[in-house]
Amino acid sequence: MSFNLKDIISIRDFKKSDVDYILNLAEDMEPIAKSQKVSHLKEGKLLGVMFYEPSTRTRLSFETAMKRLGGDVVGFNQKQGTSVQKGEVLYDTAQIVSQYSDALVLRHDMEGAARFVADNVDVPVVNAGDGAGQHPSQTLLDLYTIKKSLGKLNDIKIAIVGDLKYGRTVHSLVYALAMYNVEIIFISPDQLRMPDEILDDLKKLNCKFSIESSLIENIDNVDVIYMTRIQKERFPDHKEYMKVKGQYTINKKNLENTDTIVMHPLPRVDEIDFNVDQLDNAMYFKQAFNGVPVRMALLDSIIK
Ligand code: NCD
Repeated sequence: MSFNLKDIISIRDFKKSDVDYILNLAEDMEPIAKSQKVSHLKEGKLLGVMFYEPSTRTRLSFETAMKRLGGDVVGFNQKQGTSVQKGEVLYDTAQIVSQYSDALVLRHDMEGAARFVADNVDVPVVNAGDGAGQHPSQTLLDLYTIKKSLGKLNDIKIAIVGDLKYGRTVHSLVYALAMYNVEIIFISPDQLRMPDEILDDLKKLNCKFSIESSLIENIDNVDVIYMTRIQKERFPDHKEYMKVKGQYTINKKNLENTDTIVMHPLPRVDEIDFNVDQLDNAMYFKQAFNGVPVRMALLDSIIK
């Protein structure tokens, strides 16, 4: 098997064999991610990170991944302190950081930003989130987590819950799930439903899905519950956010007598009670760790 994508922009650019390639390679990376083995695979290479939006897991796990592979990182995690504050445009900043590094990881609030940069620089580009668009490395770690927890990616049922309108993690995830034999239940406030164009795509891809309103009634119906945060920062009107906030939450009692695993890309706000953390069902912290081996696999595949 080989991997020929230059950039990681959208999960829709992946063939199923590309996804499987990364998931398998991530498994090989685990001992390095856990510091049981030392790697020199990317020694002498530099990763450029450009984060225009807040991030904890994505940025730190990319940085950890690069350093665990023997490489190093340059970049910024906020606009403050860079020439962006003086009015420098994304195109120019990307030209500069791309000349200082061997690959770029970009998070930006504008949908399409990563594709734009990839089209205009010579080094490989990873989209670490472009507005409400895509978040492909998150999707790969989500799949990796499902595969590790359930031992399979086929013949599973998953409830995807929360902000399906603005959530880029779920906009990515569903296209990857559609590559497997998976049944999806979408659960969200009416105002935050999965966009029609994505539902139309899923129909074309023969992905089985339904739209439901009750989370509690569906807990036992599924193998995985994928919770998401309401994306407060993407609401044009704060009053609209206040109307939908806190509508879908889950606690320890809801999960009594079920093996259904609970995932979340994090950060959580109020979707998952802290008392869920102690249960075997809670997979979200392991999921966050899985970002390291999966991102190691991605970096290893695109940085030559
Ligand atoms: C997500 C994101 O930035 O889209 N976080 C992450 O990368 N793990 C989810 C979110 O912010 O809600």
